[in-house]
Amino acid sequence: MSEPILTLTDAVVAFDALRAVDGVSLTVPRGQRRAIIGPNGAGKTTLFNAIAGMVPPSSGRIMFDGHDITKLPPHRRAQLGISRTFQITNLFPTLSVQDNMVLALRGLSPRKFSLFGRPDTDSVEAPRIAAALGAARIAKRADVTVKELSYGEQRQLEIALSLVTTPTMLLLDEPAAGLSPSERSMVAEIIRSLDRDITVVLIEHDMDLALGLVDFVTCMFEGRILVEEAPEGIRRNHKVQEVYLGKPRHA
Ligand SMILES: Nc1ncnc2c1ncn2[C@@H]1O[C@H](COP(=O)(O)OP(=O)(O)OP(=O)(O)O)[C@@H](O)[C@H]1O
Ligand SMILES: [Mg+2]
Repeated sequence: MSEPILTLTDAVVAFDALRAVDGVSLTVPRGQRRAIIGPNGAGKTTLFNAIAGMVPPSSGRIMFDGHDITKLPPHRRAQLGISRTFQITNLFPTLSVQDNMVLALRGLSPRKFSLFGRPDTDSVEAPRIAAALGAARIAKRADVTVKELSYGEQRQLEIALSLVTTPTMLLLDEPAAGLSPSERSMVAEIIRSLDRDITVVLIEHDMDLALGLVDFVTCMFEGRILVEEAPEGIRRNHKVQEVYLGKPRHA
């Protein structure tokens, strides 16, 4: 196994009495594709929030690429190479695809952006934006206003936004949620084609999609790791079957 890029040691995220992440220790080797699965409310998104810095862990330690990031704010973690997408779309609908990319790359809000007008991208920004749009298969739509995009294209744009800062680790929170089968295949193809220099951690409810993309699977349940296994074994794992089939998913 290659050197880990991400290591969580006994990470806990508590919301009052609820331990949404309840003592998670996990290691992701550099370059790996990892799926995080588990029923609704298992703590998957909260785990991403703890890694990306949106919610500080109540206890435990998070190491990323040789740095102790446990207490760092999100922008510092982003500078170190962590990028994420959100379960719910998070775009500026009245701006073009290209302008959304510029904002993400410069870390600006739309308000600041309109203050500065629309300066041209420079020789560093332009190729980065083009590469990220290309990787997310949405380069042809660069000049289209976001609200004109299909929902599938909006999810592709989110992947492009997460790539534009040239991350070393990408956290994808249900990138195919709500998509049609053909749009799902497109997202799968995008993820499959990502540079192997990028470590990818993927939350996904669609088992067929997730298991076809990853090297290793972590199944969470009630804030804890229930099972870690290669994709071939995960479907047959009785504990996994029990949490998916034995209890109804909440709405
Ligand atoms: N900011 C918050 N404040 C209070 N409780 C929260 C907060 N965020 C999440 N929770 C709770 O923590 C638990 C884990 O939620 P989380 O969103 O991490 O689950 P998930 O595995 O991503 O579920 P889903 O598959 O539905 O997206 C849930 O019980 C949720 O209600
Ligand atoms: Mg979630």
